[in-house]
Amino acid sequence: METSLATQIGDLKLANPTMLAAGILGYTGLSMKTVIDAGAGAVVTKTMGLEPRKGYLNPTVVQTDCGLLNAMGLPNPGIHHFKSEMGKLKKTKAPTIVSIYGFSANEYAQVARKAQTIGADAVELNVSCPHVEKAGAQIGSDPQLLSEIVEVVADNVTIPVIVKLTPNVTNITEIAKVSQNAGADAITAINTLKAMAIDTETGRPILANKFGGLSGPAIKPIALRCVYDIYNAVDIPVIGCGGISNWQDAVQFIQAGASALQIGTAVAFQGLDVFSKITKGVEKYLKSKGFSNIKELVGYAHQF
Ligand SMILES: Cc1cc2nc3c(=O)[nH]c(=O)nc-3n(C[C@H](O)[C@H](O)[C@H](O)COP(=O)(O)O)c2cc1C
Repeated sequence: METSLATQIGDLKLANPTMLAAGILGYTGLSMKTVIDAGAGAVVTKTMGLEPRKGYLNPTVVQTDCGLLNAMGLPNPGIHHFKSEMGKLKKTKAPTIVSIYGFSANEYAQVARKAQTIGADAVELNVSCPHVEKAGAQIGSDPQLLSEIVEVVADNVTIPVIVKLTPNVTNITEIAKVSQNAGADAITAINTLKAMAIDTETGRPILANKFGGLSGPAIKPIALRCVYDIYNAVDIPVIGCGGISNWQDAVQFIQAGASALQIGTAVAFQGLDVFSKITKGVEKYLKSKGFSNIKELVGYAHQF
């Protein structure tokens, strides 16, 4: 039965708007099943490529005063080795979105096709990783290349194509429009912000890669503004992501224009209960304000 929390991203139906963000617990079928059992409306896998990739040497994650800084380097087993993990998710009710990357349009298309074959309900194009050369954010800040990649992927799969944007650009709404025009079914905003940490004593950059991506509460106001701006600029659903830690944050992202919400760092800090805490809080809020469903709240802040 559909509740007040049910939402839709293109053809994807979610029982509630919370989703596991890419890269957090999305490495195995079992870990994602645990997240779904804890109440997430959908899960996104770790970003997968065509070939296995080791990622960077440690340290790959640093905790800062206001969030996490990571430069994992997209470690993954390769999409071909992920079939058995996807098999473990077959009987779950929530959709599985496979996050993918590549070094060319053709590579993105190959990974997307394979993701569809092994059972993905949608693909999310990671064109926004701030710390891998010639992939990720370099693509997401080049409108022409991005357009080519989104178009080729959309031509190669029948499942929804979600494009995850980087905030490390001058004008994120232009990039969102380019994605929509090239055939994207939804936008995820945002990935991490390029950042760094230095050890005071030694003067050395802490991450082995020197630079990484900042996530968590520090980026929430930036992510909220990006969702607000993108909602105004496109007609496809927006998935909010960046620093969402409690139901109040979730409500604010929906008011800014998000139809669903991805949660990453808060899972690391609060554990899996964060999904049910957020959905219960949003449900109570809807009831207390007299909304019959979440769709009535999407973009509410734009009337002012
Ligand atoms: C440890 C770690 C690994 C991540 N790996 C990925 C990844 O593989 N692909 C991706 O698109 N985003 C990745 N992200 C970014 C998150 O999906 C999310 O966009 C970002 O952390 C902001 O949301 P948050 O503040 O809720 O964590 C990663 C983030 C963290 C902290």
